[in-house]
Order: sequence, then C-alpha cells, then structure tokens
Amino acid sequence: MSKISLSGKVIAITGGGRGIGLAIAESLMAQGAKVSIGDIDVALAQQEAKRIGAYAAHLDVRDRSSFAEFVAETEAALGPLYGLINNAGIMPMGYFLDEAPALADAQIDINFRGVIHGMQVALPGLLQRSSGHIVNIASLAGRFALPGSAIYCGTKFAVVGMTEAVAGEYRDSGVEFSCIMPSKVLTELTAGTEEAANIIPSVTPAQVANAVVAALQKPRLMVAVPDYLQAAHSAYTLIPAWLQQRGRRLIGDDRILSKLDRVAHAGYENRINQLAVKTKSL
Ligand SMILES: NC(=O)c1ccc[n+]([C@@H]2O[C@H](COP(=O)([O-])OP(=O)(O)OC[C@H]3O[C@@H](n4cnc5c(N)ncnc54)[C@H](O)[C@@H]3O)[C@@H](O)[C@H]2O)c1
Repeated sequence: MSKISLSGKVIAITGGGRGIGLAIAESLMAQGAKVSIGDIDVALAQQEAKRIGAYAAHLDVRDRSSFAEFVAETEAALGPLYGLINNAGIMPMGYFLDEAPALADAQIDINFRGVIHGMQVALPGLLQRSSGHIVNIASLAGRFALPGSAIYCGTKFAVVGMTEAVAGEYRDSGVEFSCIMPSKVLTELTAGTEEAANIIPSVTPAQVANAVVAALQKPRLMVAVPDYLQAAHSAYTLIPAWLQQRGRRLIGDDRILSKLDRVAHAGYENRINQLAVKTKSL
C-alpha cells in the first residue's frame, strides 16, 4: 500500500500548545498539512502556532460545545477536517487513596471524556466524506498498569479499549483509527522522574510525532513508541499474573512515584492542579 500524502490535509491537534502535541504539529507542518492547534492555554497555543505557521484556537476538551466550536472554527479557517489528534491529557502522580477527588475527575474529564467528545464531534463529518483519520494519544500506561498513577492508567486503558471498539464499528467506512502508546516522553509531564523511571525507556516528543505521521501515512491501529514495546506487551500477557507480580515487586514498579523528585516536578504539578480547580466549576 502506498503512503497517504498529508499535503494540504486539515489536521487538528488537542493540547498542541506544548510537549508532544506541539511536536506533532511541527511534524505535520513539515509534511505540508494544514494544522490547527486547540489548547486550554490559548495564549501559548497562538504564540507557538504563529511561530510554526499553524492555526490556533481555544479548546477545553472537557466541554463538548467547546470542542464543537473548535472544530467549526478550524473548518472555517482551513477547510473540512481530515484528521483529529486527541492528545490533551494530564498525569498526576499519587497513590490511589491520596488523590484528590477533583484531580481524579480532571483526569477522567480530560484524558477520557475529552477523547469521547473529540471522536463524537469529528467523526460524523469524516464518515460523511468517507475519508479521514482519528489518532488517540493513549500511553503504554494503557497497556502496563503503573502503581502510583492508578487513575491515569484507568483513563488510558479506557482510551485503548474505546479506540479499538470504535475502529471495529467503522472498519469499512473509509475512516482510519490509531491509538498511539508512548513510553516515557521527555516533556514537562515527566520532569523529576529521571531516577524514578529508569526502568522505562524514554523517547523524545519528536519520536512520538514521527510515529503519528507514520500511522497517518500508513494506517495502523495500535502503535507503541518505541515500537518494540508492542511485542514486549504481547509477551507480557503470556506470563501468569503471579509471576508478573513477582517481577514487578523485584523491579519496584511504583518507583515512578516512590522516587519522584518532587521539586523538579512541582512546576507541572502546579499547572495541572489549576485544571483540577476548573473541573469543579464546569
Ligand atoms: N510525557 C509522557 O511521558 C507521556 C507518555 C505517554 C503518553 N503521554 C500522553 O501524551 C499527551 C500529551 O502529554 P505531554 O507530555 O505533551 O503533556 P504536556 O503537559 O506537555 O502538554 C499537554 C497539553 O495539553 C493541554 N491541555 C490540558 N488540559 C486541556 C484541556 N482540558 N483542553 C485542551 N487542552 C488541554 C495543556 O495546556 C498542554 O499544552 C497526554 O495525553 C499524555 O497522557 C505522555
């Protein structure tokens, strides 16, 4: 199968003001796509969009009408949508019983409900045109459960499952679906996890962006970054649960939290705590 050209295609990215989303925006611009960045931090999104030549608008993925407005604004500015990259997400770190209810709600609302909103808003147009691609940025934490981020894992397992189920419902529609599952990515989200996460392979935002571009060009449903972790997961599922648990205890599978450098992580934590305050009043 030949590669699908992304040149001239309208592709919207949620949470594209920084980190992985911004790297995806830059890679898509390099492919000649017309890129729209939606972010709750609209000032930052507009500043970065101006720098790379993309379009930007305000978006709060927790709010379905905000998503509908963002897609309408994107289409008015750039033309009919071809692709949607559901990337916005937050990852608090904390033991299950210590996690504030508002922060749990924020994760469910942004990481899971936000993806539902995006798919339900964008999909009808793509189906009508029998063409397009929805890419959901999940995580390897949606394949391997991570003690110290239980609710985050729950939201990412949910995104993996939902993507596969929806892809099944629309398998003959001409619309493609991909679920991208990165390992640890070097963004502000993982600041302070250097020692904590040395059992987890690290990748750059650019590597995730390359995987997204490749999945758009040659559609693939499940994509791990790095790629070999997809096979590692398949092998892991063949190991009996008691042996998985023994191995996890040996390597200290909660060290993302137990060895977190809280000072280095404070900037990220403050940023996402502000989102949790906003969730209460939605
Ligand atoms: N960094 C990692 O190690 C890693 C690993 C696997 C998966 N992921 C996933 O990749 C995605 C991006 O992560 P990142 O590391 O780039 O994070 P980041 O914090 O650097 O960027 C996330 C962006 O999303 C925006 N955002 C947050 N809430 C929003 C909302 N309600 N509406 C619209 N925009 C919102 C933020 O303003 C920010 O610009 C997330 O879904 C994350 O779970 C990250």
